[in-house]
Amino acid sequence: MVMCVLLASACLRTPAEEAGIDFGYAIDPGPLATDPIYQTIVRNDATIVTPENHMKWSLIHPGPNTYDFTLADQIVATAAANGQSVRGHTLVWHSQLPAWVTSGIWTRETLLSVLEDHITTVVSHYRDNFPGVVTQWDVVNEAFHADGTRRDTIWQQVIGDDYIELALQFARAADPDAELYINDFYDNVIVAADSQLNGLPAGPGASPDRTDCALVPKCAATRTLATDFSNRGVPIDGIGFQAHLFGQQATDYAELASWVGPLGLEWAITELDVALLAAQGDDNAALTAQADAYAKVVDACVGDPACDTIVLWGVSDAHSWIPGTTFGLLDHGLLYDHDNVPKPALVAVYDSLTAE
Ligand code: XIL
Repeated sequence: MVMCVLLASACLRTPAEEAGIDFGYAIDPGPLATDPIYQTIVRNDATIVTPENHMKWSLIHPGPNTYDFTLADQIVATAAANGQSVRGHTLVWHSQLPAWVTSGIWTRETLLSVLEDHITTVVSHYRDNFPGVVTQWDVVNEAFHADGTRRDTIWQQVIGDDYIELALQFARAADPDAELYINDFYDNVIVAADSQLNGLPAGPGASPDRTDCALVPKCAATRTLATDFSNRGVPIDGIGFQAHLFGQQATDYAELASWVGPLGLEWAITELDVALLAAQGDDNAALTAQADAYAKVVDACVGDPACDTIVLWGVSDAHSWIPGTTFGLLDHGLLYDHDNVPKPALVAVYDSLTAE
């Protein structure tokens, strides 16, 4: 085991390249422009990056006739300069939508036309201005409820069941070379946190043991949809597993995703983080369990030819979404701590990427 040294060149990047894995982080244009340590970590570790927020509808398409690519372009330009690729995130979602979409009065036809314009404009912008850099798109994000029914979004309500395949078709038409994903979470950090708070066992969907897709209703629904798409030739290339985990609760993603490869599709770990309780920042046992959870997830992807992408949801704990989302209950989910010091999880990821 060779210890990764912060600021050494290509800390995780070379191991990832040698393992044939696109590895990287969700990033934010703020620290990317101003924080030299952040810049260095992103350059040294990542072969791929995801804009954490700046390609979402409310930021990139804030008014009916207004697109604002400024900050997303900064991310993509930096990635291009670093020789990295980008996962576009995300074209169709129920969250972070502007009011003009959520409060609009729509018919199926008018909303479909807005959706087509959005997908075509955004995907074409990157295909034309940064050729070959945005290699993957999360076309539809979080389309299902935990019980496997369609999430009750404006897209589902107004357009209907076929909005997912139509969105995939619009994206394929705009960039035939990009890999098109549907993306969702199959563990819920909030459920796990609540059950921890109440002293109850983790709720449905949070169980680390539930690795049979048929027993996770949302996974079963995704599988049914992907099988149908694959049979009918709907353009889809992959299934994204967000993997927002809590503590040592690492699902065996290779098992959960074992149906994906046989359909001729890929799966990816798209938003990995492993939250701890906020008080556990210096707790060696918790940090070791976290490292083990990271290793388990990375091993699953490295060991499955159908998986070749792992993106972590942030660079260091200083910029993670976890404390804000969990009212300060959870924290410490990433490979570098609040002071950018590498954690045991970084060594674990390095070891998993370099294991034979
Ligand atoms: C999160 C961002 O990390 C936050 O900064 C933002 O406030 C809310 O969205 N699933 C997703 C991501 O697909 O887009 C979410 O990102 C986290 C959950």
